Amino acid sequence: MTNAPNLKTASRLDEIKPSITLAVTAKAARLRAAGVDVISFGAGEPDFDTPDHIKDAARAALDKGVGKYTEVGGILPLRKAIAAELSAVHNLKIEPDQILVSTGAKHSLYNLFMALIDPGDEVLIPAPYWVSYPDMVMLAGGRPVILETKAEDDFAVTAKQVAEACSARTRAIVLNNPSNPTGAVYTRAQIEALAKVVVEKDLLVISDDIYRQLVYGDAEYVSIASIGPEVAKRCVLVDGVSKTYAMTGWRIGYTAGPLPLIKAMSKIQGQSTSNPTHISQIAALAALTGPQDCVGVMRKAFDERRKKMVELLRAIPAVQCREPKGAFYAFPDVSAYVGKKTPEGSILDDDVQLCDWLVEVGKVAVVPGSGFGAPGYVRLSYACSMKNIEDGVGRLAKALGSLH
Ligand SMILES: Cc1ncc(COP(=O)(O)O)c(C=O)c1O
Repeated sequence: MTNAPNLKTASRLDEIKPSITLAVTAKAARLRAAGVDVISFGAGEPDFDTPDHIKDAARAALDKGVGKYTEVGGILPLRKAIAAELSAVHNLKIEPDQILVSTGAKHSLYNLFMALIDPGDEVLIPAPYWVSYPDMVMLAGGRPVILETKAEDDFAVTAKQVAEACSARTRAIVLNNPSNPTGAVYTRAQIEALAKVVVEKDLLVISDDIYRQLVYGDAEYVSIASIGPEVAKRCVLVDGVSKTYAMTGWRIGYTAGPLPLIKAMSKIQGQSTSNPTHISQIAALAALTGPQDCVGVMRKAFDERRKKMVELLRAIPAVQCREPKGAFYAFPDVSAYVGKKTPEGSILDDDVQLCDWLVEVGKVAVVPGSGFGAPGYVRLSYACSMKNIEDGVGRLAKALGSLH
């Protein structure tokens, strides 16, 4: 197909960037398809197969003829199961009507920003942030207000920062706990302080809990909604099965929140994607109501890989790596290597160029921190085999060691 003359895409896209994590993963996949042996730490997804009992439930449902349109917000048995699970986790009474099931948690967040934001409304986003939050806020016509956090504070945003950033236009704060990309997990004291300022400033908390079941060592997931009724009223909970049950491709995420907001999101979904895939809803129901030992098995494997990756990264000269306590990412500071010269003679001016060179020459794919609002850092997923961790971080060390 040739280009239409004078084709112009909508100006609302002018500021929107493509997802950098998807771009890195796609580049690694392209090189691999061309026969290049690349080890990729780019993907934000478990390398495990979806557990058998979940696949079996989907197969059995298919055989029974499942595969039609459903209610826009998801089938009632699934919404009941989600409401029961989230009520227990957040110590709240959540009704099935307060649940909207969408095509992945990303879709939940997109619906949420579209339903919530008027032009010029501000949303507080602690950095480093998951790549899509600022772009989704901008697509909805809002203004992302970025709150920088420090590595030495374990990348936790403080109540003081939140209070100082609030303006008359501030609507909400995004809290991603555990965090993608840093793996940081908020302590109870930090959550309590944030809950207090949220109530004082009358903000909405968009609590992205997609990694809440992946916490390690003595870290504990503390739900901000569980702190008390005043903050609970102001919480919108985004969750899903993608990361916990190795179900990224099934595309099921969900939102629990105040009924008027859920209804508004449902209106958007009803005019765009309709219901999430019926068969995936059956699989998600099996995931939530079936045996949970698979979650522990995967968590234990991630924990072992996490320790190995951090140990290997810390052994690279001039690389600083804090201990990630949740999710499945390490987020080392590699700024000592930015501005250095490659053996081929070019200068790597920033982390994006560094990552480009690492994949092309070092044959190891990592995601530049710039995409997460943290230049000088890179993100590595340890949701891959131990062998890939050993070989891939070895490649990283060798490549970085060749810079001068
Ligand atoms: C922080 C965070 N939120 C939401 C999502 C979206 O998850 P899903 O695959 O369910 O759309 C991701 C996926 O990478 C994520 O890392």
